[in-house]
Formats: sequence, C-alpha cells, structure tokens
Amino acid sequence: MVSGHCLFLTVLQLFVLLAWLTSYAEGRSLKCSSGKPCSDRTPVIIIPGDLGNQLEAKLDKPSVVHYICYKKTNDYFTLWLNLELLVPIAIDCWIDNMRLIYNRTTRTSGAPEGVDIRVPGFGGTDTVEYLDPSKRSVGMYFFAIVQGLVNDGYVRGDDIRGAPYDWRKAPNENKAYFLALQQMIEEMARKAGGPVALIAHSMGNVYTLYFLNHQPQAWKDKYIKTFISLGAPWAGVVKTVRVVTSGDNNRIPVISSLKIRQQQRTAVSTIWLFPNGNIWPADQVLVRTPTTNYTVRDYQHFFQDVGFPDGWEMHKDTEHLVGDLEHPGVPVHCLYGSGVPTTQSYQYTTFPDSEPDEVTFGDGDGTVNLLSAIQCKHWVGKMAYPVKLVELPDNEHVNMLLNQTTVAYIKAVLNQP
Ligand SMILES: *[C@@H]1O[C@H](CO)[C@@H](O)[C@H](O)[C@H]1NC(C)=O
Ligand SMILES: *[C@@H]1O[C@H](CO)[C@@H](O)[C@H](O)[C@H]1NC(C)=O
Ligand SMILES: *[C@@H]1O[C@H](CO)[C@@H](O)[C@H](O)[C@H]1NC(C)=O
Repeated sequence: MVSGHCLFLTVLQLFVLLAWLTSYAEGRSLKCSSGKPCSDRTPVIIIPGDLGNQLEAKLDKPSVVHYICYKKTNDYFTLWLNLELLVPIAIDCWIDNMRLIYNRTTRTSGAPEGVDIRVPGFGGTDTVEYLDPSKRSVGMYFFAIVQGLVNDGYVRGDDIRGAPYDWRKAPNENKAYFLALQQMIEEMARKAGGPVALIAHSMGNVYTLYFLNHQPQAWKDKYIKTFISLGAPWAGVVKTVRVVTSGDNNRIPVISSLKIRQQQRTAVSTIWLFPNGNIWPADQVLVRTPTTNYTVRDYQHFFQDVGFPDGWEMHKDTEHLVGDLEHPGVPVHCLYGSGVPTTQSYQYTTFPDSEPDEVTFGDGDGTVNLLSAIQCKHWVGKMAYPVKLVELPDNEHVNMLLNQTTVAYIKAVLNQP
C-alpha cells in the first residue's frame, strides 16, 4: 500500500517534470522554422476601458417601459454607442435594455428578460477604434493609435487586434472573456514567432492586471513582451461615487443624470472602481452632506444612505479582485495624464437625488485621480521586469489616445528588440 502510493508519486513527479520540460522547450521555440521570428513586428492587442467598445442587443421582451420602445427585433442592433438612442424618451427604452439585474444569491448580474447583449468585433479593431459604428469623430477612440501602427505596416485584425468585452461587469463575471483573450494571445504569438504587447486604456488596465495576476509566470514570460498602460485607475476613481449618488450625464444636457443613474448603478464595474480603501487616505472626504462625511471607510453606510444596498454587496464581491495591486509580472510602461482638474470630493445639500452643489478638484487627467494613476510606482524595482512611469502633462483621459506623443511613444516601445 505504502510503496504503491510512493510509486504513484514518482510517476506523477516524472509526469510533471516532463510537462515542465516540454513547456520549457516550447517556450524557447516561439520562433519560425528558420530559427528567426516570423515577423519583425510585435503583435499588439488592445484592451479598451469602461464604455470603451460597442455593445449590441437583440430583443424579445415580455413588456416595455414606453410604447415607443421596441419589444422585439429580428437582429442585433447597436446599443452602445448610438447617440440616437440617448435622446429623451428613447433613453427610457435604452436604460431598460442596458441595465443589469443583480442577484444577491448567485452574486451575479444578468440582462432583463428578453434582452440579449453581445460584444461585437472580438479580434478586430473596428469596435474599439470608433465607439459609434457611423465613425463620427465624437466616438473616436483607439483610431489614432491603430492608424499610426497600420502606417508602419501593421494589419488590422491580423497583428493588431482588439479585445472588447462587456464593460458593465467586473472581471469576476467575465471568465469566458479572459479565456478568449488568453487564446488570442497564444495564437498571435505563435503566428508572429514572438511575444505580444498589450495596450490598455482606463479600466482595461485593471482588467489586464487581473488577467496577468491569474496567469502562471512561465506563461507570461513566454507570451507577453510588454504591457503599455494608458490612464489606468489602479486604485479606482472618485468620479464613480458621483455616478452612484446622483448619476452622471457626462455633461450631455439632454440626458437627465438622475434618469441615467438607474442604469449606471447596475453596472458592477462602476462599483468595482470605487476608490480603493487600501490606497485612499482614510481622512479624505469623498462626499459631504449636511449630516455626514463619507470616506473610503464608510461605503456600507453610503450605499444604504443613497438607497442602493445592492451596491455594498457588489463592493464586497469585487474589492479583492485587484485590491492589493499585485505586480503583473511583465514589463510595464505606465503612461498617465496630469494637470487636468479631476474631481476629488463632492458636496451635496440635497442628498442623493440632486446634482452636487460643489465639486472639489485635484490633479489627474480629468477622470482618473493622479493618486490612482501613479500606483504602478509600487512595482518599480520589485521584480526583474522594468516598470516605467511616464507622465503626460496636460493630457485628458481620452484625448491622450489621440495625442501624437502617445502614438510615438508606443511605436518606440514596440520597436525595441
Ligand atoms: C437568484 O438566483 C436564484 C438561484 O438561481 C434564484 O432561485 C432566484 O429566483 C434569483 N432571484 C431573483 C430575484 O431573480
Ligand atoms: C465634515 O468635514 C468637514 C471638514 O472637512 C467639517 O467641517 C464638518 O463639520 C464635517 N461634517 C460632519 C457632519 O462631520
Ligand atoms: C500631447 O501631449 C503632450 C505631453 O505628452 C502635451 O504637451 C501636449 O499638449 C498634448 N497635445 C494635445 C493636443 O493634447
């Protein structure tokens, strides 16, 4: 019995050793048969941010919120970004299709009955270059970066590809996405005969961090050349607190903030990006009302007081996902905008159902607070992988993607041996 057990262990150990040797040999052979890389271009994958890629819906609903809303559609249509759906009245239909329903038992969120949401364009770049399929410049997103690389010989959908996802959810509810991302990385690396560069924006960086934290180091060494991070909210952003309190119409005056709050509150990713309690100063007031000062220590009360107790459950589900900001285990270029007024605190007289009376600004890129953007500094010198912080003065959160300084920096990194 005992010797049988030992024999089993020995066979198992041998098996593990063989598997390790095989993967080691494979790792050394990400090259073409000629012994050289098959391409002199580093393959690139783009991971967009919150609201940063198109979403489509197909409907077959039991009921609608307004007679003008579609109950049933024959095919998928663009739900995001489609400016025509965001006008008064039509926005009610939009909210009812876009919202998620949270289930406290399963601790997951899903679409309302009869609403089928899909993410178009995985592996292509179209749906991340422009948010609006009509390619109006208002929805221009990764276009300048993709076009800049195409001008240097990259081919859309071949060695530069997009990895869009359902950004309403946090990583704990996007398991299939991470598997698809892993497979795409492996496929592109094999085809090129060399590792892949990941370029992420905004929340896409925190998604990428989660992904890398869940990959074995040997896999990362083999498949990831570098992680170029643009405008990362590593430790959350204060703006999310306003979104949940009184809604945020992103200064589009025809949209009522309170109305769009209904949908915004249901997006678990927004709750995930609340300021991180391990990083934010515990004495910094995020929301001030006539009766209470809320800080990162008061989230449970906060969600109660704004009448959204599910938010506290979502917070508990997601705060640990990247809460300790573990090193991604790859080389990182951490680019971030600064010098743009960025909300740091809100004051409400009528709380929570009206706009804040006063907003206090601090440094950042207009969306991401500087404190959050620079948290990649903790990785500097911690592992063998270089981590470089690059401040982009006067760069706004989205506009940094259109800035030729950013495009030139990315090209220089990709051209490094
Ligand atoms: C939540 O999920 C459970 C388990 O699937 C189900 O029994 C329950 O009806 C759901 N709750 C709601 C409110 O839909
Ligand atoms: C909130 O904090 C401010 C200082 O930031 C203080 O003046 C005020 O009294 C506090 N309010 C409450 C209700 O504690
Ligand atoms: C582009 O970025 C540089 C710094 O990185 C900044 O000085 C310049 O103002 C930016 N240009 C625009 C148009 O935002």
